[in-house]
Amino acid sequence: MEKKTLIRPSLLAADFLHLKKAMDLLVRLKIAFVHYDVMDGNFVSDISFGEHLFIPLFGKYHKKIAFDVHLMVQNPLHHLERFYALGAREISLHYETIAPFLPGIERFKKKHPDLRLGIAFSPETQTSLVMPLQSLADFFLVMSVVPGKGGQGFMESALDKISMLDYFRKSNNLSFQIMVDGGINEKTGRECRKRGADILIAGSSFFHSQDPVAFFDTLTKFPSDDRIG
Ligand code: DX5
Ligand code: ZN
Repeated sequence: MEKKTLIRPSLLAADFLHLKKAMDLLVRLKIAFVHYDVMDGNFVSDISFGEHLFIPLFGKYHKKIAFDVHLMVQNPLHHLERFYALGAREISLHYETIAPFLPGIERFKKKHPDLRLGIAFSPETQTSLVMPLQSLADFFLVMSVVPGKGGQGFMESALDKISMLDYFRKSNNLSFQIMVDGGINEKTGRECRKRGADILIAGSSFFHSQDPVAFFDTLTKFPSDDRIG
């Protein structure tokens, strides 16, 4: 039986001169979530966009599509609070940034049960380090590129991380989701699915495709019997 792979396009790869057109396309395709990459020029060297762009986009589209906010920022608690206050309910923070803020993040999460919190982790971070955070994480975001830029090549090392998380989830009867972000295309997306990924973030391959509608269809139709284990 066919099981739909969940694809979330990353707005970072959209044509910024035509953001409305990009958002309208996602709505037309009935895509549930758009991935919104926030970069602060500190945790990563580039600056992308923040709450000032989020406010009008969320205002116009939140009834039609949900926003998944990926915070690549040095102070994740501050931005978690801000984006939650603005309406985001699915937000991921980087493992590499959270240590000084952990008690505050835990309190915030407890106070807001409708928040789905993700723990993202960079290629240099070992999976065994993030696993103890499973009670805090509704999902893990495996970075398959160095965070900070779109359009990079997929790092194969992400595949073993997905397998490890999937094994950890199965053997402990846990229910967190596994998301993969960076360099996803038809081939790498399929590999990720085989290893147990639930959700794939696709930026360049989606928005730069000649035919994003056909591309989206192909990616979503990976059959479930493709999966290993
Ligand atoms: C990278 C971002 C990704 C990026 C994915 O720092 O977190 O979400 O937009 O873009 P592609 O699919 O182009 O690698
Ligand atoms: Zn991202």
